[in-house]
Amino acid sequence: MNPCILFLVALFAATTSVQGFVARPSFSILRADKCSVRSSTMRLFLSENPHVEKILFVECGFGADAHGQNSTKAAVRACRNAIEFNQIPSIGDIIPGGRDAMKLDVLVAVPSKYQADLDLSAVKAAFPYGHIRVQIQDGGMIANSGKAIESMGDTNTDMIVVCVAVTVGY
Ligand SMILES: *[C@@H]1O[C@H](CO)[C@@H](O)[C@H](O)[C@H]1NC(C)=O
Repeated sequence: MNPCILFLVALFAATTSVQGFVARPSFSILRADKCSVRSSTMRLFLSENPHVEKILFVECGFGADAHGQNSTKAAVRACRNAIEFNQIPSIGDIIPGGRDAMKLDVLVAVPSKYQADLDLSAVKAAFPYGHIRVQIQDGGMIANSGKAIESMGDTNTDMIVVCVAVTVGY
């Protein structure tokens, strides 16, 4: 984004009191692979650290693990859900440097209670190619599965729901 526009957005956010725009929920961000937790706002973080500089499109997905409380399983399903119905044969022609230069910014919303269990390499492996950054924020949902089934790995009735936004570009 144009730095002037970014500055105006920041100025607006700092000076207005419009509910929802200025409200800055802080959430943890895990940097890919390292699991170092950092508190920030997504708006500021993404503008400070653009991984994908030229955004082509954004895909959203949803995944659940009904039994076993496995956030990795839910996250991988969400990633599959985001990408599996799309086919963009022109992508290699659009991106300078071809498919190998494609970048993905993967933002997963995972219930905080289950973030520590999330296997980031498994999330990355859901994508067939591209330079991938994974970020985590509090979100998704813990729903009630209705029944804990021990043989399926349940330790409680938490059904984990993960949402993902995959930003594709270069
Ligand atoms: C969670 O699911 C992933 C992906 O299916 C699997 O590799 C991992 O072993 C599971 N973790 C546990 C604790 O069962």
